[in-house]
Order: sequence, then structure tokens, then C-alpha cells
Amino acid sequence: MKIRTAVIPVAGKGTRFLPATKEIPKEMIPILTKPMIHYAVEEAVLSGIEQIVFVTSSGKTAIEDYFDRNLELESFLEKNNKEDMAKEIKRIGSMIEITTVRQKEQLGLGHAINCARDLIKDEAFAVILGDDLVRGNNPVTKQLMEISAKNNNSSVIGVMEVPIEETNKYGIIDGVPVNGSDKTYMMTRMVEKPDPKNAPTNLATPGRYILKQEIFKYLNEIPRGVGGEYQLTDAINAMAAESDVYAHIFEGNRFDTGSIRGYLNATVEFAMMDENLKGMMLEICREKVKKYE
Ligand code: G1P
Repeated sequence: MKIRTAVIPVAGKGTRFLPATKEIPKEMIPILTKPMIHYAVEEAVLSGIEQIVFVTSSGKTAIEDYFDRNLELESFLEKNNKEDMAKEIKRIGSMIEITTVRQKEQLGLGHAINCARDLIKDEAFAVILGDDLVRGNNPVTKQLMEISAKNNNSSVIGVMEVPIEETNKYGIIDGVPVNGSDKTYMMTRMVEKPDPKNAPTNLATPGRYILKQEIFKYLNEIPRGVGGEYQLTDAINAMAAESDVYAHIFEGNRFDTGSIRGYLNATVEFAMMDENLKGMMLEICREKVKKYE
């Protein structure tokens, strides 16, 4: 079954990036020349997604505008012989169909996803958390779709191994390998941010999910969880008790761009991976090491 829709929650306040996020959404902070949200949407497009549902709050209209056409800018660029850039601006504005829904109170990730329920209809959908950026040859969402398709169109959670002392930052899964695979698991349980001493494994989700529509039944039933919030993890855990939910260790490099360290890391890495910027970045880094070390 084709997965057409990706839900991307963007209602958060972005306090770790204040004061930058006082007037602009944190999702619009750029890594090199593209805002962070661009990478999440591009991942969706490259995975074959046809519609994005942004779960937004007030002050986030810049995100919708970014993915809309800007005819004035396009014609300005064309008139000034910047045809390539005009094309790129047009491409971004035509990339994908965008729909938004408001999350009026920030009551947790589970609550945010539940806000999209009326727009999903009777289909499985993807969830992409924009703070978690993953680079690799095969987009993560696409990798998870492939695992879902191979396993009866079941729900699939993207996971990666993390150091055991970091389990309290993530949703952690427990499961049984499928047919001796060292990458795909049948999930038995999912726990939100367990202390390392209680963590069932070190398999953490960095915010990539394929979810069957039935998740909404569980999202409606769960009580508030860790941090007093409605946790998506708790709904997935309840769903895994009654139906097949898989977890898959995806391929790719993940950056936590919601933290300053992860943001800096992504910025440097992306520059290194760009043929036009690599030399410049290396030169700057060498100079800085000499000057400050
Ligand atoms: C959320 C989820 C958590 C997941 C994490 C990935 O937590 O609740 O399960 O592992 O995103 O970034 P947050 O980081 O929003 O507290």
C-alpha cells in the first residue's frame, strides 16, 4: 500500500535556539543555505510522499511560505540573469502539496500527531521529526516504507544504536530479530526516555515512523506519560501489544539539529560534503585549530 502522507510536527518553541527563535520558527534556521525543514521535506519527497501535513502553532507561517511559490522573487531573479536560482526557488515552491493543522496547546508529540488525524483518512502515514536530520544514500523514510511493504504493510519504527547512557533522551524499543536479521525486529515494547539502568536495549528512535491508521485509536486512549505529555511512544507501545509493529535499524548518518552541538556538527559535515565548500571549510578549520588549540 502506498504511503502518501508525512506528518511533520513543527509547533515547538525552539527555546534552545533563543533569541534566534524569538521571531522565526526554529525550523527556518538554516544549515548552509537551506532551512532545516527543507531537509526533512526533501527526505519525504525523495521517499515518494505526496502530501505533507505540518502540525503548527502561531508564528510558524514562514514555513508554509517557504514551500509556496514566490512569483515576485522568481521574476526578479529571471530579470537579473539568475535563471538557475529562479529555477531552484520555483522547484522548492512546487515540491509538494502542503497542508497545515494547528496544535493549540503543546501537550506532547502524541498529541501533535493526533491533531493530524482528520487529514490522514484511512491510510498508513509517515512521521518525520525535523530536528533529527539523517543523511545517506537511501532516505530513511523510504527504507522504512520498504520494510513495511515486505511485512504486510505493518507499522515500522526507525531505530539506531545509541550509547547506553543516552537512552534517557529517546524512545527505546525492545524486540525480537525477524528471521535472524540483525537489522529488523518485531517490537515487543517501547519505552519513552528510560534511565539507562531500566532501558531494555540501546535501540533508539530518532523520529522516523511509518504508522498504520490504527495508531489514532491508541493516541486517543493513552494517559499523560513522561514529562506530563501525551507520548507517541506510549501509543506505539500499546499498539505493539495488540498488533505487529516492526523496528528497523536504518542506514545513514543522523544529526540532532535540535541541539547546538548537533547543529554545528551538521553544518560542518554538510559543508565538507559539498564539493564547492569542502576546501573552504577545511582551510577555516585548520586556521581555527592553529589559532585556538
Ligand atoms: C521525541 C520522542 C522520542 C524520540 C525523540 C527523537 O522526544 O518523544 O521518543 O526518540 O523525539 O528526537 P523529544 O526529543 O521531542 O523530547
